[in-house]
Amino acid sequence: MTTAPHPPEDPPDGRPGEPPNDYAQQATMTAIRDHHARLARTVADHALTVRRSIDRLAPSAGPRAAMVDFLFAEVIPHALAEERTLYAAGAGLPGTRLLVEAMTGEHARLRELAGELREARTPGEVVGAAAALDALFQAHLEKENDLLLPALVEGGIALTGLLAGMHEILGEAAHTVSESRPCACDDHRVPAAAGGPEAAAAEEELDVRAVPHARRHERIFAAFRALAPGAALVLVNDHDPAPLRHQFAERFPGEYTWEYLEEGPQEWRVRIGRP
Ligand SMILES: [Fe+2]
Ligand SMILES: [Fe+2]
Repeated sequence: MTTAPHPPEDPPDGRPGEPPNDYAQQATMTAIRDHHARLARTVADHALTVRRSIDRLAPSAGPRAAMVDFLFAEVIPHALAEERTLYAAGAGLPGTRLLVEAMTGEHARLRELAGELREARTPGEVVGAAAALDALFQAHLEKENDLLLPALVEGGIALTGLLAGMHEILGEAAHTVSESRPCACDDHRVPAAAGGPEAAAAEEELDVRAVPHARRHERIFAAFRALAPGAALVLVNDHDPAPLRHQFAERFPGEYTWEYLEEGPQEWRVRIGRP
């Protein structure tokens, strides 16, 4: 959703006794939704990779472990951070109290399902837990995006001040949506980047925009196969490489990581790594 900025005379966000700055509110909502979209895609991709590995009678331990790692490293901290901030604020509003109560219950169920996935003992249990978790998570995020966030804004909650510097909720936009406040985090690690920001800076960039379409995927697969464990490349493309992602899930289930760094409209950048 694109929202035109309001005039600069709007009052600063979160100042006591004044309404929140609409422009900052919209920027913060966009950052939350973008981060949700990234989490949603990654969980869906892991669930697909788990299912494909089982369909192919391939070992599912790797894909399952990769999904469990992502859940405990990204999704559950995201949920806990929300409960401390957005949900705590929503619990105090008559219009969102029940919604927050129900969604807190969904967080608990997501944590249970992550535990069930980790402890699953048969292929059926693995794929069942992964699919259930994926379905619940996608529906949960839709409610957060479409019901809870607008209701919080409507209720006068100043999102920008509430979430300043919170990577767990804002993702990388934590550095930009709260310009009046320095980022509270001194670890600017991008999720799934091996070795932190120094390693990310040294990653090979693979710009395929000038490569004929018919040869792009093989060029990318060749570069990926050449990666050492723990290394990553940054793919630069002129469209969302979603079909390529499906091919990765089919060819390399559980053997790759996929992290969008930039999503258009002119340029897409994806960090593809070898765990
Ligand atoms: Fe949530
Ligand atoms: Fe969320």
